[in-house]
Amino acid sequence: MDERPLSLQPQPGDSLDAALRIKRLSELRGQENVRNNLDILIAAARQREETLDHILLYGPPGLGKTTIAHIVANEMDVNLKVTSGPAIERAGDLAAILTNLRRGDILFIDEIHRLGRAVEEILYPAMEDFALDIVIGKGPSARSIRLKLPRFTVVGATTRLALMTAPLRARFGVVLRFDFYDLDAIQHIIRRAAELTQTPITPEGVEAIARRARGTPRVALRLFRRVRDYAQVRAGGAITAPVAAEALQLLAVDELGLDTLDRTILEAIIVKFGGGPVGLETIAASVSEESGTIMDVVEPYLLQLGFIERTPRGRMATPRAYEHLGLLYNRAPAADSGQSSLFDGNGDDVFAS
Ligand SMILES: Nc1ncnc2c1ncn2[C@@H]1O[C@H](COP(=O)(O)OP(=O)(O)OP(=O)(O)O)[C@@H](O)[C@H]1O
Ligand SMILES: [Mg+2]
Repeated sequence: MDERPLSLQPQPGDSLDAALRIKRLSELRGQENVRNNLDILIAAARQREETLDHILLYGPPGLGKTTIAHIVANEMDVNLKVTSGPAIERAGDLAAILTNLRRGDILFIDEIHRLGRAVEEILYPAMEDFALDIVIGKGPSARSIRLKLPRFTVVGATTRLALMTAPLRARFGVVLRFDFYDLDAIQHIIRRAAELTQTPITPEGVEAIARRARGTPRVALRLFRRVRDYAQVRAGGAITAPVAAEALQLLAVDELGLDTLDRTILEAIIVKFGGGPVGLETIAASVSEESGTIMDVVEPYLLQLGFIERTPRGRMATPRAYEHLGLLYNRAPAADSGQSSLFDGNGDDVFAS
């Protein structure tokens, strides 16, 4: 299990999060694009008493995809069945799930990019025609029959849109991208957590945590918890800016929210590979970390900070990264510089491999 304080994988201590989960769309701050789209979608479906179109949610971990799936079920007043790509091993597993759904139910499939091919093939007609094709018998006497399914809604979530097959993607009527939250929204989330846990906190304390939360609610809540522990044990309970700073320093989280792994990776690109370009697999091997973790967890935030750039030949550190690490930027401009600008502006690149 990954024990990094900023790890984006769910951890046992997150049980507190259950109490903090938001239940209504109106409680959601930030993520305007997602909220506005869902608002209309839900209102329209309710007015017409129809079921919801299939919805695909994508973006970096910890931004609220699972939370939104629960909220949508809540707002529609329907049941939510939760599963995930790797959990559905055989086509028969999916068939069993599908035949147990009722009209309007939401089937939440997390990590939908990890569905097996055979399972996907069952899902296509199920999503499109609400039909389940099953083969009865074996050999020459085998025949296929088509079962009708109730109209249901798939809510799919993925951190890796690029790994989804095109036919599966095409079956979602609505595709919503999650972005990092702004400082305001993160501060709101921290204030709410403090209220619900009756933790005294100053506005500066809120801000000190929020600035290090990498625009990610899961990280914000986790840092809040650690700081709260520290305040309780070492500082009489109240969270102020200095208390937060001390606690976060103990966790090796710097003032931009970078932790040891982030800095190790930046340093590797700069020191071992002369600033890049260097391929993801090479970076991963040099810091003994999985490339998937780097791609999902480390890279999106470093890109957002403008610390690295993706070029066709690999990752490059920017002058800002050198500055943040206190290193001297002395690279001669590369002959093909300017090339990276081709890849600016399209955030979707973040999730491509
Ligand atoms: N907008 C929000 N306001 C308050 N809390 C939030 C918000 N979004 C997410 N959270 C909290 O952040 C944590 C992570 O959210 P969630 O599990 O929904 O993320 P996710 O996008 O599904 O992540 P993953 O990709 O790892 O599955 C949860 O504890 C959730 O309650
Ligand atoms: Mg999730």
